[in-house]
Amino acid sequence: MTQNELKQQVAEAAIAFIDEDSILGIGTGSTVNCLIEALAASGKRIKAAVSSSEESTRRLQQIDIEVLDLNTAGSLDLYIDGADEFDANRYLIKGGGGALTREKIIAAAARRFICIVDQSKQVKVLGKFPLPVEVIPMARSMVARKLVALGGQPEWREGFITDNGNWILDVHNLDLVDAAGMERTLNNIPGVVTCGIFALRKPETILMSTASGTERF
Ligand code: A5P
Repeated sequence: MTQNELKQQVAEAAIAFIDEDSILGIGTGSTVNCLIEALAASGKRIKAAVSSSEESTRRLQQIDIEVLDLNTAGSLDLYIDGADEFDANRYLIKGGGGALTREKIIAAAARRFICIVDQSKQVKVLGKFPLPVEVIPMARSMVARKLVALGGQPEWREGFITDNGNWILDVHNLDLVDAAGMERTLNNIPGVVTCGIFALRKPETILMSTASGTERF
């Protein structure tokens, strides 16, 4: 199976978890793009969606799904999103697409979070994928120095502006053995909007696509 077929397979498996007439939280990325396509093909009608990015919003509107502001939608039953890495604790690294802050907000607003991935995202210890950290632009250098002091090597994703008007530092070689502790530490640095560790609010379910089917953790 190709990588794209694996993404399509797990996206199709996730459709069964979506209730008709519900308001669904939708993440960002190529696996979620497959989910949006699978939702259209399934014929299942949802009431509306809350989206984590301008890109997902555009794709949802293309298939005639109304996109609501989170303030209007209130709390959500279900949020579905991809990830860049996950471990056996169901801790995630997210933000490769730069949408981590809105993703974290929607995950916090949802009663249930399902993460859809293919097998290439599974790791023993988080951190091979450089950790995205969204920063307020004026704080970039100061935050970068603090990340170096924590043992990381931050790299500015130059030219990229988040949907919130901020910048991203991709941090290499941070020790993420204590993922929840590092999430707290990073989120406490002034100027950090949020980091891409999803340990304090992790998914209840991970659906992982493999060549022999979809596994559930
Ligand atoms: C977006 O900011 C990320 O958190 C995505 O969830 C992540 O990058 C997964 O994307 P793919 O489905 O394209 O691998």
